[in-house]
Amino acid sequence: MEVVIRQDATAVATFVADIIERLVSSRPGAVLGLATGSSPLGVYTELVRRHRAGTLAFGRATVFLLDEYIGLPPGHPASYRTFFEQKFSGLVDIEPGNVHVPDGAAADVDAACADYEAQIRAAGGVDLQLLGIGADGHVGFNEPTSSLASRTRVKTLTDETRNDNARFFSSVDDVPRHVVTQGIGTILEARHLVLIGLGAAKADPIARAVEGPVTSMCPASVLQLHPHATVIIDEAAATRLTLIDYYRATFAAKPPWQST
Ligand code: F6R
Repeated sequence: MEVVIRQDATAVATFVADIIERLVSSRPGAVLGLATGSSPLGVYTELVRRHRAGTLAFGRATVFLLDEYIGLPPGHPASYRTFFEQKFSGLVDIEPGNVHVPDGAAADVDAACADYEAQIRAAGGVDLQLLGIGADGHVGFNEPTSSLASRTRVKTLTDETRNDNARFFSSVDDVPRHVVTQGIGTILEARHLVLIGLGAAKADPIARAVEGPVTSMCPASVLQLHPHATVIIDEAAATRLTLIDYYRATFAAKPPWQST
């Protein structure tokens, strides 16, 4: 696992946008696994800026979102499909048909989950999976005690996550209890995992994910099992890392031939 500490959210966004630009420039048909929530917003803003500047195209890329709420009406502003269209896919040249979102409104949700897995496989798997991290260590909406082998399925949100996400709704009572999320086993099959952590509220889960035991009590700790995982955090999210000096020194001494 590589841990990269940048000064602030803007520097994190630039660093992650660079990784995505390198991938999409070398492989225009790349399959991107993307997250919603606050953490990747700066990345999307930067990618949109580069697209508008004419240096970056997504016309052949495919996207699979991590998760979606169950029970929101189509077009609800907090639905992850709508959020993603407003923040990214609707602002660049991605073909709408190449944007895949777990179907939280399907009549048969289990069948829709199996179909989502099949679509990821049919696309050749995910090249790069962008992840945020929840205060309780979740990735996607895989809450603590999620099976480390889980696939796309329905999960129940913890009260902590519903409270954290209430800022996107009129009140916490409006935050759905149920979601569809890619499983931890699904996420682990992506070829590169890129996890963003921003702000002091993420310092504890980042420390548990990077330096704690691999445990379903902190689903993000599974990144330790992945051969190519990059954790990119700002200073505030790095404060509880025991080996913080080592991560800084490793990054500073990184040979030019070693890519992220
Ligand atoms: C969103 C997702 C979640 C968020 C996490 C952090 O698609 O999968 O795991 O990444 O809840 O949310 P923010 O970034 O809003 O702090």
